[in-house]
Amino acid sequence: MAPPRTNGAVDLIIRNASILDGTGREAVAGDVAVTGDRITSVGTLPADAQGPSTITIDAGGHCLAPGFVDVHTHDDGALLRYPGMEFKLSQGCTSLVIGNCGFSAAPAQLGEADPSGLIGVEPTWTDLEGFRRAVEAAHPSVNAMALVGHNSIRTLVMGEERREPTDDELARMRRHVALAMEQGACGFSTGLIYRPGRWARTDEVIELTREAAAAGGLYATHMRNEGDHLLAAVDEAIHIGRTAGLPVQISHHKSAGRRNWGRIGESLAKVDAANAAGADVTLDVYPYTAGSGPMAQYFDVDNVDPELAEVIRFASCPAIPDYEGRMAVDIAVEENTSAAAIIEKVLRSPKGDRTVCIQFIIDETDVEENLRHPLMMVGSDGIPDLKGRPHPRLFGTFPKVLSHYVRDRHILSLSEAVRRMTSLSCDRFGLVDRGRIAEGQFADLVLFDPVTVADTATYDDPKREAVGIEAVIVNGAIAFGARPDGSVGHTGAGAGRFLRYRS
Ligand code: ZN
Ligand code: CU
Repeated sequence: MAPPRTNGAVDLIIRNASILDGTGREAVAGDVAVTGDRITSVGTLPADAQGPSTITIDAGGHCLAPGFVDVHTHDDGALLRYPGMEFKLSQGCTSLVIGNCGFSAAPAQLGEADPSGLIGVEPTWTDLEGFRRAVEAAHPSVNAMALVGHNSIRTLVMGEERREPTDDELARMRRHVALAMEQGACGFSTGLIYRPGRWARTDEVIELTREAAAAGGLYATHMRNEGDHLLAAVDEAIHIGRTAGLPVQISHHKSAGRRNWGRIGESLAKVDAANAAGADVTLDVYPYTAGSGPMAQYFDVDNVDPELAEVIRFASCPAIPDYEGRMAVDIAVEENTSAAAIIEKVLRSPKGDRTVCIQFIIDETDVEENLRHPLMMVGSDGIPDLKGRPHPRLFGTFPKVLSHYVRDRHILSLSEAVRRMTSLSCDRFGLVDRGRIAEGQFADLVLFDPVTVADTATYDDPKREAVGIEAVIVNGAIAFGARPDGSVGHTGAGAGRFLRYRS
């Protein structure tokens, strides 16, 4: 640890902490001083290190870690709709990667709502620079790093056309990727399971990914298949990375569908083999056995898959709000019909295409095997639709890893879990000078009690903040912690920044 150095003018001192520095090293007792937006010293600070205006936090021996990075979010629009980002801040998150699964707020057409419904804000921008200005004006409480999404670009250029792009269309799509990279995106994302991405052949993806590669960025993918054809989809992702010449991030790695449970190890072995042969593939996972997303994307309304229908629960359902929080199978019993018929009814109703569902498709042992992998980051994949009953991962992801998988199940150590939520993520997604507790790093910090930290959000009651998170500091400002009235919670500090890749 660096020898302590203070100039007597520090703004904030956190004393008596068990410091997890984000590198995976075991905790070390010490103090951390912050001046402005940076960490200015780490170690045992003298009693007179603080000046009269210094804020002092006594950590009481609890854990101080770099702020957590949610590498898989759909919070593009949420940064504008809910700039307080309470559901992420309360988990200890200080930075988010947005634009995942091929859906990004930019580029966009002025005033044209995104067809996915995932962004949920009418754009007042056309490119990433314009979106950046809109976000900065909203003063969000957390930092954001953007991916540019294939589905968004393809929709902009080709609408819902189920065909290959013409040369001209491909060139226009390439320019959108290149412009976003120039404007600070960290990479290109796909959602090849979704419309319109699923109509793209591998070659189209490679051509667009080349623009991210040229700017030194990465390729993040919701792969073409996560179930029966998972291994072929992993091959495609690795092939795209190798051909375009850039690192690959496999999003929300899973082996979906009961008949594929217990098989995540085969997919991880493929990743390991590729990396041993010179590829550069990393992954992320959310710590739950259910996924969630726009229901219209998972079903063919003319031919609803009865097996999938059986494991569907409604998160938000503007068509029939009474269905929110309920399993399709339970509704079917009540209405004397099948789960598939319920799904079809909702999808054919006005606003049915705005349904967000939760699907119980993942095996618990696969979640644990994922979390054991040293290249596995944590990403919530939360859908920030607070009107219904969202998947509990929106509020619970990071505390759940720390409580259930670290403390109760011993799947990974605390210092390793913190590494995979901080330095590994920042290095991968190009968040410079973040993800570690060290002199000169940005002061993005989370203080938590390792004994009590826990998620409290459940499928029935999902909008509950975690317990045991005691303070969250973003760019040196206390965004969550002790308030003037003595209570602990959100302070309203909007110190988040829209980050640029590797700068
Ligand atoms: Zn996805
Ligand atoms: Cu996603």
